[in-house]
Amino acid sequence: MKKISVLGMGYIGLPTACMLANSGFKVLGIDIDEEIINKLNSGKLHIEEPELEKIFSSAFKNNRLRVSLEPERSDVFIIAVPTPLDHRNKADLSYVISAANKIKEKIKKGNLVILESTSPPGTTRDIVGKIITNGTEFIAGRDYYLAFCPERVLPGKIVYELENNDRIVGGVDKKSSEAAESIYKTFVKGKIFLTDLETSEFVKLAENTYRDINIAFANELSLICKDYGIDIREVIKYANMHPRVKILNPGPGVGGHCIPIDPWFILENTDRKDTLIEKCRKINNSMPFIISEEIAEIVGKYRDPKVTIFGFSYKENVGDIRESPAIIINNELMKKGIKVSIYDPLVVNTKYNLSELEESVKGSDLVLLFSGHSVFRDIDLKSVSNLMRNKNIFDARNFFDKSTVEKLGFNYYGL
Ligand SMILES: NC(=O)c1ccc[n+]([C@@H]2O[C@H](COP(=O)([O-])OP(=O)(O)OC[C@H]3O[C@@H](n4cnc5c(N)ncnc54)[C@H](O)[C@@H]3O)[C@@H](O)[C@H]2O)c1
Repeated sequence: MKKISVLGMGYIGLPTACMLANSGFKVLGIDIDEEIINKLNSGKLHIEEPELEKIFSSAFKNNRLRVSLEPERSDVFIIAVPTPLDHRNKADLSYVISAANKIKEKIKKGNLVILESTSPPGTTRDIVGKIITNGTEFIAGRDYYLAFCPERVLPGKIVYELENNDRIVGGVDKKSSEAAESIYKTFVKGKIFLTDLETSEFVKLAENTYRDINIAFANELSLICKDYGIDIREVIKYANMHPRVKILNPGPGVGGHCIPIDPWFILENTDRKDTLIEKCRKINNSMPFIISEEIAEIVGKYRDPKVTIFGFSYKENVGDIRESPAIIINNELMKKGIKVSIYDPLVVNTKYNLSELEESVKGSDLVLLFSGHSVFRDIDLKSVSNLMRNKNIFDARNFFDKSTVEKLGFNYYGL
């Protein structure tokens, strides 16, 4: 039975490790965070994701999955560690570098190393490959297999999509691509396409950059529509009736671990200036500031204004607040002397001060609907309005029906 070490027990590494364990491999999950390892060792999860509990407990109970702070000798190593942006909008590859150094201590001839962390083109070959070669004389493609396999899963649907999405596998050579394919084939029901290293790295970045650019277009249109006094929702509805047009919805900015970051990775190793990609990043980054200004103007007429944010996560139906533009809006409003309370039943383990629904809206002057969680459909807006001091709703996701909200006595504002 093949043994696989997965480095990084986060949103990607942990579900992947469970899938592999349930597909018959002996899997060792590794993380540098002792708290995570202790929690997993006690049979508990440290992240919330539908279906994860089920595949984790099955892998754990069958002793197919163990977790540890240190890697061991294995047949396959999968790297799923963070690749954040640094303050210069460059990839911080320090976690990848540290993972590659750990693998180097354990690697044997014939092993397979797969990088899954989203990375600038060239990272697998020039960073991971070179670290392993340096001092060992292990050459990728000759002594061991090296591949990149991007992750395309959607938070909130990770387990389902891990199994069902199509995958791209890029190898340093054909044998490496095929070796990686043979691992994913054991649990992936989607198609697996083989290509080279740099193409697979670029494909992942192109996918998220495509989304970022399209969101920026919708956001820019919404701002221009306001100048003309036109309702962007009507524009999108009618424009999308054209068979070849699909404009996305505007929003209060782009958050999460991927879309605000990956476009910068595309630009990392090119000298191109004045790119569409960078302009779109700027448009999307400006949205939370623009919205904060608009909200400050609406509540500016009240004494000691209070704003309630409904939904603090970066998107609907998840509890993940990484890169959430709601954080910027919260900070900007507070800087302007506006009191902010936050209601988000999906967000747990956060340093931000969250309130229960009633408490959050008591004496409030405006509700900002930031993330459109399905559970918010059950909120009784009549009771909410009774608790508020002034009845204003800023609907940053076109979540509420404008006329319904207005009938309840709210002033409705939106993008
Ligand atoms: N979360 C997503 O939806 C998603 C989707 C597609 C791609 N990705 C990419 O996958 C990668 C991992 O993302 P994630 O969301 O799982 O991150 P995460 O922060 O949830 O988990 C990463 C884990 O790696 C651990 N770690 C850091 N350095 C390590 C090391 N040297 N050895 C072992 N463990 C180490 C951290 O402690 C952390 O627990 C990133 O590159 C991300 O961009 C994520």
